[in-house]
Amino acid sequence: MIRIEHLRKQYANDTQLKDVSVEIHDGDVIAVIGPSGTGKSTLLRCINRLEKPTAGRIWVDDIEVTDPDCDINKVRQRMGMVFQSFNLFGHKTVIENIMMAPMDLLGKSKQEAYDTGMHLLRTVGLAEKALNYPDELSGGQKQRIAIARTLAMNPEVILLDEPTSALDPTMVGEVQAVIRDLAKTGKTMMIVTHEMNFAKAISNRVFYMDGGGIYEDGSPEQIFDQPKRENTRRFVHRLKVLELIIESRDYDFLGMAGKIEAWCGKNQIESKLTNRIRLVFEETMQLLIPLLTPLHVQAVCEYSEQTSVAEWTFRYAGAKLDLTQSADDLGITVLKSMAEHMEYDRKETETLPNSLYIKIKSTVQTK
Ligand SMILES: Nc1ncnc2c1ncn2[C@@H]1O[C@H](COP(=O)(O)OP(=O)(O)OP(=O)(O)O)[C@@H](O)[C@H]1O
Ligand SMILES: [Mg+2]
Repeated sequence: MIRIEHLRKQYANDTQLKDVSVEIHDGDVIAVIGPSGTGKSTLLRCINRLEKPTAGRIWVDDIEVTDPDCDINKVRQRMGMVFQSFNLFGHKTVIENIMMAPMDLLGKSKQEAYDTGMHLLRTVGLAEKALNYPDELSGGQKQRIAIARTLAMNPEVILLDEPTSALDPTMVGEVQAVIRDLAKTGKTMMIVTHEMNFAKAISNRVFYMDGGGIYEDGSPEQIFDQPKRENTRRFVHRLKVLELIIESRDYDFLGMAGKIEAWCGKNQIESKLTNRIRLVFEETMQLLIPLLTPLHVQAVCEYSEQTSVAEWTFRYAGAKLDLTQSADDLGITVLKSMAEHMEYDRKETETLPNSLYIKIKSTVQTK
């Protein structure tokens, strides 16, 4: 078991990990996902002490790896790490690469190391490459060798940091297959990956990292199908988000339109849908402005790259104001013509208690 308590890692004046506390159980296969720069690699590197944490404590079973007196090499023998780049020794053959650490660090005999090495090479489907040099292998094959080399130490925990992201797309599958088999053997694993289907398929637990910590920790079903928190949902559905705040009646109308267009352009939203996104915003604002005192609106547009669906949510202050019920207004008719679905909700506890949700009609022709 790995126990992490109040882990913090700070580089220069930038805090990467703020306060991570978590327990990882034996046999857990954890997929670590999240936007770039949220500390996924840093977390793994702190666990096997490639990075020194700024604060906090980490235990691997009963050994505290953050204890200055801890023999970190002993710990690393029990914790294998697989990197994006394979770090194989170029002047040694494949089998020599695999035999080295068990002989040097575990005192295995040459024969023993060879037998285990060949067995592992068969496991990753590369026994016939035993006498080749790394340069003679493809990227996918090199990574499978790197995994075999890690396994040769028979570690209890395996940490993998984006093991397939440096590979040619045609080779991703073969490496994922090896990792998938490994995940079934009951070894404790943590895998940082940007490939969501893979993450979902192999893990029994997912850490979604955001804002310098584990933002949501749950089963793959929860994280991918029913995320509890906002940022997780946006990430797993690959949502692009635009947020506009309007606090004055004479807000920069043209500027907002420009912002919306630019955001749509950046996300390659096609022009018809871009128009609808902008028009829905403008119509809604025109309806809201005369009715709201004080004027305070937060408008959030979410666009899913996966489904090409765009949705607006307008949250606003003041007494109950349900636009969907103001029946005969021309503006509402226009709005409804562009909406596939509109829904009003009121949550008294929020600072902006009114919310109006508008799912924009798809502009994709369906025959
Ligand atoms: N050695 C370092 N020195 C200074 N800053 C660093 C160092 N390593 C990482 N960082 C900071 O941490 C951030 C990234 O942390 P980390 O590599 O853990 O992110 P990540 O979640 O693994 O991102 P990615 O998905 O891009 O790999 C960087 O943006 C950088 O600012
Ligand atoms: Mg990383």
